Amino acid sequence: MTSDHPDPSPPSPATDRWVVQPGRPLVGELRVPGDKSISHRALLFGSLTTGSCQVTGFLPGGDCLATLGCVRGLGIRVDQLGATEVVVHGRGLGGLQAPTEPLDCVRSGTTMRLLAGLLAGQPFASTLVAAPQLARRPMARVAAPLALLGARITTTDGRPPLRITGTPLHGAEVTLPVASAQLKSAVLLAGLFATGETIVHEPGPSRDHSERLLAALGADLAVQGPTVRLRPGGSLRPFSLAVPGDPSSAAFPLVAALLVPGSRLAVTGVGINPTRTGLFDVLQRMGARLTIVPTGEQGGEPVGTLWAEPGGSLRGVEVGGETVVRAIDELPLLAVAACHAVGVTVLRDAAELRVKETDRIETIVTELRRLGAAITASPDGFVVHGPCPLQGGTVTSHGDHRLAMALTVAGLGAAGPVTVEGTACVGDSFPGFFSALAAVGALEGDCRP
Ligand code: S3P
Repeated sequence: MTSDHPDPSPPSPATDRWVVQPGRPLVGELRVPGDKSISHRALLFGSLTTGSCQVTGFLPGGDCLATLGCVRGLGIRVDQLGATEVVVHGRGLGGLQAPTEPLDCVRSGTTMRLLAGLLAGQPFASTLVAAPQLARRPMARVAAPLALLGARITTTDGRPPLRITGTPLHGAEVTLPVASAQLKSAVLLAGLFATGETIVHEPGPSRDHSERLLAALGADLAVQGPTVRLRPGGSLRPFSLAVPGDPSSAAFPLVAALLVPGSRLAVTGVGINPTRTGLFDVLQRMGARLTIVPTGEQGGEPVGTLWAEPGGSLRGVEVGGETVVRAIDELPLLAVAACHAVGVTVLRDAAELRVKETDRIETIVTELRRLGAAITASPDGFVVHGPCPLQGGTVTSHGDHRLAMALTVAGLGAAGPVTVEGTACVGDSFPGFFSALAAVGALEGDCRP
């Protein structure tokens, strides 16, 4: 069975919860929506090219739609030819127009941080505003490196809104204090508008989608290990891009298939860029029956089919260092898998989780404990004493899409029904998440209360 599930209607507040019945195997084949990080970049870089860019497999999730709204607010025409196909009519590096009102990044940190870089060197002022969840997140971390290029950005006590004056920039050498693709990409976007070379050093291997796309568009860019050099000048050429499936979304049904007896699931067309596959590496180290079959390249990114089935027994592992950077969005899901593993799983070096949509160390630990997990928080991670079979119960996402999906997977592998409250947010990154699970048999067609 193949399932395409691009555009479900968002649940109303009254149905913003799912009752997950455990034990239904996931069998068949799935595609997941397009990669969130690449979809953002297709819009932002596309708007700077000198012509029309056709993007298929675009993720019509809340976060990318926030970027789409902002790009339109900067005078860029974007045609939506269907839920997952857009055409971005680039106006060249000098083509953005002053927005007539604040640009709303809604709940998307990627939108706000990348736009901060894009707007820093424009000949006009702009303001970036946020919904309450994003308004709590740190923004000095992007304003500070951009200031090294001469940017004038003020935060509100280190948080959104951001007020960007727009000023001529100069190249600079920037050493980022954390491995973050958002910060690296913001500096590179600003560097496109600077005089002279910009050099970014990172402490770890964050996702490299900006570098791949910029190089494909003809930017003068060189990557050497953790260092990226960008020389401005020239123009960016228009492109056609088929966005691969998002490995961060594929991870949820795949982990469910590892946990629920009788499952055998394939997820096809998934991006397997090594800067994104940290969780898959960890799962294989835990002894999971997870197979990655590379199938080619799409949009300058490697893609493949991932197969998952239960079997053997998972072992607890230690996770830290560069693997954390390559698995950053999947770490709440790692906690769920660790509850099924024999032995202790220790996550460290993951303090970044505390500044995501929620403090993901606190929220995943609190919610899994409600289901009986033997998990404790540490300053930079968590410790799980497995196996600790999960019981039925009621949990909440705290409005965090990755929590909602990780807790749904917890429910699929639990001993009793799990009610997940606050599930509408899954649409921020994986619209159609519940339909996708239903399509491979994990959920009944309609399991809302
Ligand atoms: C992203 C980078 C990561 C990731 C986020 C998307 C991106 O954030 O967690 O979901 O598209 O650049 P950080 O750069 O803060 O690590």
